[in-house]
Amino acid sequence: MMPTTLITGASSGIGRDLAQLFAKGGDDVVLVARSEDKLVELARSIEDECHVSATVLVADLSDPNAIDQLCNQLNERNIHVDNLVNNAGFGALGKFSELSVDRQTDMLMVNVVALTRLTRRLLPSMLERGRGGVLNIGSIAAHQAGPNMSVYYASKAYVLSFTEGLREELHGTGLHVTCLEPGPTETGFGEDSGMGRLKSFSTQAMSAAQVAQSGYDGYQANEDVVIPGWKNRLLVTSTGFIPRGITRKVVAKMQGAYE
Ligand SMILES: NC(=O)c1ccc[n+]([C@@H]2O[C@H](COP(=O)([O-])OP(=O)(O)OC[C@H]3O[C@@H](n4cnc5c(N)ncnc54)[C@H](OP(=O)(O)O)[C@@H]3O)[C@@H](O)[C@H]2O)c1
Repeated sequence: MMPTTLITGASSGIGRDLAQLFAKGGDDVVLVARSEDKLVELARSIEDECHVSATVLVADLSDPNAIDQLCNQLNERNIHVDNLVNNAGFGALGKFSELSVDRQTDMLMVNVVALTRLTRRLLPSMLERGRGGVLNIGSIAAHQAGPNMSVYYASKAYVLSFTEGLREELHGTGLHVTCLEPGPTETGFGEDSGMGRLKSFSTQAMSAAQVAQSGYDGYQANEDVVIPGWKNRLLVTSTGFIPRGITRKVVAKMQGAYE
């Protein structure tokens, strides 16, 4: 039986490309997001081109009940998930004290809570069957604080720490655990978060297809952390040598926190 891969945030950007890559690799896919039309269109094209099954499950992952409802739907359809790709996420540029309370809480629900709960719900059956694993989408933002985008940066620091901890816990089980950390990438994220208007973001952006391919290859090879693009790797490596008090001031300047 072919493996099944569930991808959250499959309706656009990196998640959409990851869904196509897993399907091209022969996996059945479960596509999760809020935008039903986009998911249905993607499922049709995947089934036509890749001859695998593509199931659409519509969910708003900021809803505290979403993960349990999603898991109930998987059980009802007798779908066993082998690979979980926690990709859904969003950011918001602006001062913590000025951005909407609800938007920032929803961000934590999607980027952190849903990712954690879904992993916890799906992991036992992966361990039972001894195959599959978890690919979490973090960000190079995980490596320093992000003034004017503090909650987003902190959420991605959580994703990295959680993924690394889980990887060690699962050592020897045969399961893969990988954190993909994109830098600026051409998707809906730039416009939605406000990051797209920053020069440092738009001039550096990689394509979603390149980023997804790096993540897919790194996950298949069971790499711990995958940072697509040499410029992003250089940035993260050099960040490690600079005191955090300085890196946060640099990010603050780049993200307009002093304006
Ligand atoms: N693009 C970048 O520069 C960049 C850099 C570093 C990390 N990342 C990370 O990459 C991941 C994918 O983002 P992307 O760049 O591909 O952006 P994107 O094109 O905006 O895609 C985001 C995906 O998340 C889904 N999503 C957002 N809120 C959701 C919710 N409440 N419930 C369910 N699904 C939700 C969206 O689907 P619906 O709107 O249909 O629900 C969409 O499919 C995110 O975790 C992001 O933080 C992106």
